[in-house]
Amino acid sequence: MVINKICCIGAGYVGGPTCSVIALKCPDIVVTVVDLSKERIGQWNSDKLPIYEPGLDNVVKQCRGKNLFFSNDINTAIKEADLIFISVNTPTKTFGNGKGRAADLKYVESAARMIADVATGNKIVVEKSTVPVRAAESIMNILRANHRPGVSYQILSNPEFLAEGTAVDDLLNADRVLIGGEDTPEGHDAIEKLCWVYEHWINRSKILTTNTWSSELSKLAANAFLAQRISSINSLSAVCESTGADISEVARAVGLDSRIGPKFLQASVGFGGSCFQKDILNLVYICECLNLPEVAAYWQQVITMNEYQKSRFSAKVIESLFNTVTDKQIAMLGFAFKKDTGDTRESPAITVATTLLDEGAKLHIYDPKVEPSQIMDDLTHPVITEEPEKVKKAVSIYDDPYSATKGTHAIVLCTEWDEFKTLDFQRIYNGMMKPAYVFDGRKILDHDALVRIGFQVQTIGKRLARPSLARIWGSCNQI
Ligand code: NAD
Ligand code: UGA
Repeated sequence: MVINKICCIGAGYVGGPTCSVIALKCPDIVVTVVDLSKERIGQWNSDKLPIYEPGLDNVVKQCRGKNLFFSNDINTAIKEADLIFISVNTPTKTFGNGKGRAADLKYVESAARMIADVATGNKIVVEKSTVPVRAAESIMNILRANHRPGVSYQILSNPEFLAEGTAVDDLLNADRVLIGGEDTPEGHDAIEKLCWVYEHWINRSKILTTNTWSSELSKLAANAFLAQRISSINSLSAVCESTGADISEVARAVGLDSRIGPKFLQASVGFGGSCFQKDILNLVYICECLNLPEVAAYWQQVITMNEYQKSRFSAKVIESLFNTVTDKQIAMLGFAFKKDTGDTRESPAITVATTLLDEGAKLHIYDPKVEPSQIMDDLTHPVITEEPEKVKKAVSIYDDPYSATKGTHAIVLCTEWDEFKTLDFQRIYNGMMKPAYVFDGRKILDHDALVRIGFQVQTIGKRLARPSLARIWGSCNQI
């Protein structure tokens, strides 16, 4: 095989970890990850990587400077590479045709144009970004339209299935690697070369090869199925709250059916992350364009249910706090979209925080990994608020949960960080206004223990017993 050098365009949450693991497992290949952002590349070359991902520091330290490089010299890396991953962002369009639904492919197109401008020799170009079905055709059109003598291309689709927070493990022990390519001798040859790279550590039986369009659609389908499970269990959590059933018991009973399985049935404040919503919206848009309105409506409902869950949880907080949170101090524990990441993209915490701020609450926010500047950026973004200065005054960010909760009326838990499970809630309770409320949007706390301390507790998908009034008033007298 002749893959000596790999270039990856896009040093983000996918390009960085994926190529670090390839470098670790393929010492015979030189891997260069390139990006337009000088800041990001600087961070990849520093002791503080631009993303927090358990185990990643260690992988990068083992390979960086040996066969793993991070660089802004995109042209050289493209020229030298035998295989080029395109791992750039594919956000939802915010303008024009397909606004709010279609994937914006401008970064993919710009990467393709960069390749077309400088490539020499034979290149295998691999779509690693999540793209609409038949995006590979557009990449090929750009490359072939700018064709220069002596240059030939094969385009492969190789979508990434890693989840943030478990990326290194997901990459090392992938359930499957999916590679789609052209059904031609050249296409098969390119597929075999990429298979050879993965076979350095992934068993061949787990490497699935398909046609290009199946591979592209499978990625959207996988995310749609995962998100659909969460919306399904969240929809039933509303039924539980109205009937006295417990969603954890329902999830267990349903998940023990081996045909259904137990994973991704954790009811929550709603799913977040950069991809579920974007990829389903993209799928919905594709279905509409294909004149399949029933299919589009089916998948749209997964998003609608998620919006409902986020707003239902926010409404529950307000209603429980006597229908007004104006000037109330509310501690928010967790801001990332899930534990073990510092990523806040589409985090449900943003929706909950924004709703509470709109109602006049003062927020005290603590997250173990999200940078304070990121929290402020998210809450003062023009799409989120027209009054950024007012928001800045109403938000305080803390670097420990005890200071964040001190003197507050309520705790709203939005991210399932493990450290929240072992907090000293008696100490927290003693420092709070009474009655003290906990709203557990992730179902990770010991609710019975909290009720015994004296908290008023609300969670997703379960009605909880309330502490006796005598107990609450007893605590009130202590403050
Ligand atoms: P990201 O925003 O973290 O990183 C993308 C990077 O690409 C940015 O650093 C940006 O500066 C760079 N970039 C954009 N255009 C460029 C160009 N022309 N040349 C050089 N650099 C360029 O995005 P991400 O989260 O890594 O996602 C990348 C793709 O992978 C998306 O399509 C996403 O849907 C998909 N994906 C993401 C995840 C995830 O967990 N984040 C998982 C699977 C798949
Ligand atoms: C998801 C997929 O799991 C990956 O396979 C995929 O590669 C990736 O999207 C992508 O394409 O970007 P990610 O978004 O990083 O990964 O994280 P998940 O673990 O899937 O969690 C997504 C959201 O769903 C989080 O907010 C999480 O808290 C929530 N969730 C997850 C639940 O509310 N309940 C669950 O049972 C599971």
